[in-house]
Amino acid sequence: MNVTVYSQHKPPELRTVLAEHCAADHLVWMEQSCERIDIDHPEVAQSELLILDCPDVETLDWSSVELFNLRHPQATTALILPGDLDRVLMQAMRVGVRDVILRSQVAQDLVGVIERAHIRLAAIHGIPSIGKIFSFIPCKGGSGTSYLAANLAYVLGELHHKKVLLLDLDLQFSDASFYITDDNSTRSLGDVIRRTDLDGPSLESACVKIGKGTWLLRAPANPEQAIGVTPDQLDNILTVATQHFEFVFVDLERTLDPLSLRVMDRSDIIYPIMQTVLPFVRGAQRLQRMFRALHYPDTKIRIVANRQGKTEDIPLKKIEEALQTSFYLQMPNDFVNTTASINAGKPLYEIAPKGELSLALIHWADQLAGKSTGSARQITGHLLGQTLQRFLKRAAFSS
Ligand SMILES: Nc1ncnc2c1ncn2[C@@H]1O[C@H](COP(=O)(O)OP(=O)(O)O)[C@@H](O)[C@H]1O
Ligand SMILES: [Mg+2]
Repeated sequence: MNVTVYSQHKPPELRTVLAEHCAADHLVWMEQSCERIDIDHPEVAQSELLILDCPDVETLDWSSVELFNLRHPQATTALILPGDLDRVLMQAMRVGVRDVILRSQVAQDLVGVIERAHIRLAAIHGIPSIGKIFSFIPCKGGSGTSYLAANLAYVLGELHHKKVLLLDLDLQFSDASFYITDDNSTRSLGDVIRRTDLDGPSLESACVKIGKGTWLLRAPANPEQAIGVTPDQLDNILTVATQHFEFVFVDLERTLDPLSLRVMDRSDIIYPIMQTVLPFVRGAQRLQRMFRALHYPDTKIRIVANRQGKTEDIPLKKIEEALQTSFYLQMPNDFVNTTASINAGKPLYEIAPKGELSLALIHWADQLAGKSTGSARQITGHLLGQTLQRFLKRAAFSS
């Protein structure tokens, strides 16, 4: 951002705030009074944030300020005054000044002005989002949602070299935070959720990197940090995340609240995860009713049947009839490897790369990435039998 400052005396507090908060900006000082503002000067004409440190409002070159704002509607103009704000506010607004702050408050208030100018500029330039949002929600607790979301994020980052963010939004249990790593650093969503100047690198630095391409943003370990999080704050995280990551996975808890609704609204795809026994079917129906009420298109919802292969389960066909939809994918039951991976705090793919569930996850990741790494085919060809072939064939049909 081009920042131009009119200030005859360059007071130290102004210098400090600008040095700290405009370090990455193009900062130019015009060491002149505000009695005459040269709006044709190239550094002024190109300014995206024009700061006027004005010791005497009576002598301010109001007409040039107005002309500048008319010519550059995308720019932000901020006025710093010694006092008497109330008297000047109306006039300042009329000439298009966005912020008026007291000189004695520069250290506190100017930071917000700079942040808002950055955000405005980013919105005007419309920084494109590159990533898609996929949310994972359990039809009932214990569906395997967090486990699948976390391990799928890992496989996608590892085998496809995609940049994947896994956002653990289970503020109560935060299981996803522990399924694929034993790193116990305290960086979390709580560090970034209230930041209005958030960008990709600062979001990344609040994450734990796992493997080659997966970043985990943990749910706050401290419940106080999770209290009062608003849907708008979460929206901001998602916007920045989609500008910085190719895939944004959000692990949701079962409870529906304004936060999970906002995530689902913003999601490209929602994966409700269930097991094929009765209580999960009821949970799936409850979610379906909600999706209908929210007018989500059917194409946005992809129900996944987890822990398949257990004999006591209800036949799939019956469940599909009850839900009036087909399963998008079936994930095999793999108790032994799953337990081993959880106990080690490591991704399943690292513990059992050729296990049934790993293979199904690789296939799912292949579909998301739009191409095969060959890993799934190789392993199926050599190692796996009929059961898994059936899972994969079904998945391919419904993709
Ligand atoms: N395909 C699977 N095979 C065996 N165990 C699984 C499978 N998927 C998940 N699990 C286990 O189910 C338990 C609950 O999973 P979790 O992801 O925490 O559920 P949810 O997030 O839906 O509440 C975990 O112990 C996990 O290891
Ligand atoms: Mg969970």
